[in-house]
Amino acid sequence: MKRVAVLKLGGELLEGDQRMIAIGKAIKSAARKMRLIVVHGGGREIDAALAQVGIPKRQVDGLRVTDAETLHIVVSVLAGTINTKFVAAINAAGGKAIGLTGADAGVAPVEKAAPHKATSGETVDLGMVGTPLKSASPDVVETLCKAGYVPVIACIGASKNGKLFNVNADTLAGSLAARLKAKRLVIAGATPGVLDKRQQTIPKLNKERIEKLVKSGTANAGMVAKLAACQAALKGGAKSVAIVDGRAPRRLVKALAGEKTPATTKITD
Ligand SMILES: Nc1ncnc2c1ncn2[C@@H]1O[C@H](COP(=O)(O)OP(=O)(O)OP(=O)(O)O)[C@@H](O)[C@H]1O
Ligand SMILES: [Mg+2]
Repeated sequence: MKRVAVLKLGGELLEGDQRMIAIGKAIKSAARKMRLIVVHGGGREIDAALAQVGIPKRQVDGLRVTDAETLHIVVSVLAGTINTKFVAAINAAGGKAIGLTGADAGVAPVEKAAPHKATSGETVDLGMVGTPLKSASPDVVETLCKAGYVPVIACIGASKNGKLFNVNADTLAGSLAARLKAKRLVIAGATPGVLDKRQQTIPKLNKERIEKLVKSGTANAGMVAKLAACQAALKGGAKSVAIVDGRAPRRLVKALAGEKTPATTKITD
């Protein structure tokens, strides 16, 4: 499919009506120029919902250890509240958004993630965390794009026997960018790209530098999952991958169009 861009939005960028409205407008205008697929997270809102019911949070390298109770909250918050509100915000801006989850046909069929070898050295069973299958064809996403819609995907996956799994949003965006051979994957968060140890944006990162950055601990937590997702996207055939500051929504439109933007880290292999 031509000129496909996958945009991943960190949950923090969608917190509060004002931010959602501003990002909704940016998505509407980007979708006029390209076939756009949006994947969103919801990390902090999930944390808040877990705290409310007294479920402890556990994350390893940005991946959420997910038991049955946690999964229930993840699905309710991500596919329920955030996805629905966000789709409504894009449509209110004049866009044509359709909400999906990875349980929809071909979007994110998963298998249970293998035990995670953490940067700390330990090996952790992540519970009900899924890894998207490389072989799954996301036809439905292509069909929607061709018809002029913007698929907005909440990062839940489903196994072949119909069980739901939590999928890290960066992992899901990286997998879709690979399977669609996307022209561009833009991962937008609430930091000025990837930061070095002096808190300065790193303009470019390749495999060796990523290894060093993770080993030294300069990149940790959610950034570890993000960098792994970028590398998987490139390996799977995405053409260009960047981690950008999503807090200025108009800049997102430029980043998606391939224009140079500040506070951006380009990832190469
Ligand atoms: N070197 C680094 N540069 C930038 N951020 C880093 C770095 N190392 C660790 N981080 C952390 O990674 C976080 C981003 O990952 P996190 O999972 O928290 O958010 P997200 O993936 O954007 O949102 P969501 O999980 O809702 O999709 C940053 O807020 C920051 O705290
Ligand atoms: Mg994250």
